[in-house]
Amino acid sequence: MRISLVLAVFTASSALAFPWMTPEGMEALMKHPEAQKEIKRRLEEHVGAQSGTVAPRDPQLGTGLIPGLIDLIGGTLKAVVDPIFGLIPTEDAVRGHKRFPEPEYPFRPPGSTDQRGPCPGLNTLANHGYIPRSGIATVGQIVAGCQAVFNMGADLGNLLASGGAIDGGDILSTKMSIGGPDPRVGILNGALNALLGTPTGIAGHGKFNEGDASATRLDFYLNNGDNIVFQPELFKQMHQAALLKGDGTYSAEAIKYHFKNRYEASRAANKQFYFNLPSAGVVMGAYYFIPGFFSNGTLGANGIANEASITSFYGAKPKDTSPNAWKNPNLEYTHVPERIPEQGWYRRTTPMTVAEAVGGILDVYLYAKPAIGGAGADQGFVAGPALIPNNPQALSCFFYNAIYANFPSELFNTVALVSSVVNFLSSSLVPGYKALGCKVDFPQASGIGSTYRETYEKWALQYTGEAKTKAVGSGWYKKP
Ligand code: HEM
Repeated sequence: MRISLVLAVFTASSALAFPWMTPEGMEALMKHPEAQKEIKRRLEEHVGAQSGTVAPRDPQLGTGLIPGLIDLIGGTLKAVVDPIFGLIPTEDAVRGHKRFPEPEYPFRPPGSTDQRGPCPGLNTLANHGYIPRSGIATVGQIVAGCQAVFNMGADLGNLLASGGAIDGGDILSTKMSIGGPDPRVGILNGALNALLGTPTGIAGHGKFNEGDASATRLDFYLNNGDNIVFQPELFKQMHQAALLKGDGTYSAEAIKYHFKNRYEASRAANKQFYFNLPSAGVVMGAYYFIPGFFSNGTLGANGIANEASITSFYGAKPKDTSPNAWKNPNLEYTHVPERIPEQGWYRRTTPMTVAEAVGGILDVYLYAKPAIGGAGADQGFVAGPALIPNNPQALSCFFYNAIYANFPSELFNTVALVSSVVNFLSSSLVPGYKALGCKVDFPQASGIGSTYRETYEKWALQYTGEAKTKAVGSGWYKKP
C-alpha cells in the first residue's frame, strides 16, 4: 500500500517536474507566446556568444594520471604525522598546494530559503560563497567554484554540472538548484513553472546525477523522497569503515568497503532499488571524491582524508569531542553546515579530470562488482547493460554520450530549437569529449530524423539497457 502510494505520488510529481519530457509539455511551451519570444531572444544571445568571442576551454587532460591510477588510489597511502587530526600534512604533501579557507570567502550557515542538497562539495562551496549562497547556480559558477576550491578539472566540472542542468535545471539559463526543486529555477527563469512544473534540482532521482546506495544519504524510496538530508547513522558506518580499513582515515580502501556495504544494504531494503548508468556512475564517482577531493594535500602524494577534514566537509559533528573519541566505532554524530576545515586545509595540486574520476569509478566498481540494473514492477531485477565499459576512455565516452542520450529523445525528433540549445550547452563539453576521442558523437548527430532514433536506440540498449525505462526506481520508468 505504502509503496503504491509513494509510487503514485512520484509518478505524478515526475510528470510535473519534467513536463518537457513529454511531447505535450514541450508543445505547450513552444506555443506559449512569451516563451517563443524569450527563447528566440536567448538563442540569439547564445549564438552570438558562441560565434568567436568565447575562447575554447582548456580540457586540462594529460595529467598523466591514467596509467597506474587504479594502483595509485587503491594502494596504501604513506602515513603522515597524526593522520587523524593533523591538519597540516608533511612538507612533501603540501609543496605547491594552496591553503584554505580564504578570508574573502567566510563561512556562513545557510539561511532558511537557501538550497542545500546531497552533495557535501557543493554545499561547502555555497556556505563559503564560492557559488551563490542561495544554492541556485549556473553551470559556469559551479565549474569555477569547484575549480577554485577543489581543483576539479574544467572538463569534469562541465560534465557534472551540465548533466545537472539538463536533467534537473533550466537548459536555457543553465541554472540549477543544488538541492531540491525551487521556484527560482525553471523554464524562462521560473516564469513558466506554474504552467510546466519546477525542475527537480540536482537531487532529482535516477536521471543523470542522484542515485541509490549513496555514502551518507538514504535512497529516495526508502525515506519518502528525502535523498538530501545527511544521515548520522550512515556517517557512523563510514567512520567504522575508516577504522577498519583505513587505520582511522577515509582512504580509498575504506570508502570502497563502505560502498560495498551500502550497496548490499540498499538493495536488500529498497524494493524500488535503482542502480544503473549514468546515475550509478555518479554515485560511485562521489565515493571516490571523498579521498580524491577532501584529502588534505594530494591523494597519492601523501595527502590524506583524515577525520578532521572529512567531518568538517561533511558537517559531521561528533557528540564526544574528547581526544581519543575517534577510536570508538560507536561514536555518534550530529549534523552542522558543511565548511572548509577552520584550522587550515590544502587542496590537491593536480586537477581531477574526467579520466581520473572515471578511473576512480572503475576502481570502486571493480572492488564491489555491484549488479547494474534495478527492481522491476514484478519484484524481479531488470538488468542494466551486461558489461559496463571497463576502461577509463570507454567509460568517459559513455558519460559524455549519456548527457545527450538522457535528453528526451522525443525532442530531438520534433523540436529543432531545443537541439540548438543543447548544442550551445555542448560547447562546454565538446573539448573534453573530443580530447578523449569518443566515437558515438551525439552532439554532431544533429538529432533530427529517423537516423538519430536508430542510433540512439542501439546505443541505449547497449549502454543503459532496459533497466532505464523498466526498473520502477528509475526516473525514466514508464508504467507498462
Ligand atoms: C560539478 C559539480 C557537482 C555536481 C553536479 C555534484 C552532484 C552531486 C550529486 C547529485 C550527488 C548525489 C549522488 C548520490 O546519489 O550519491 C553528489 C554527491 C556527492 N558529491 Fe558532488 N557534485 C559536484 C561536485 C562535487 C565536488 C567538487 C565534490 C568534492 C569536493 C563532491 C563530493 C561529493 C560527495 C562526497 C558526494 C557523496 C555524498 C554522500 O552521500 O555522502 N561533489 N554530488
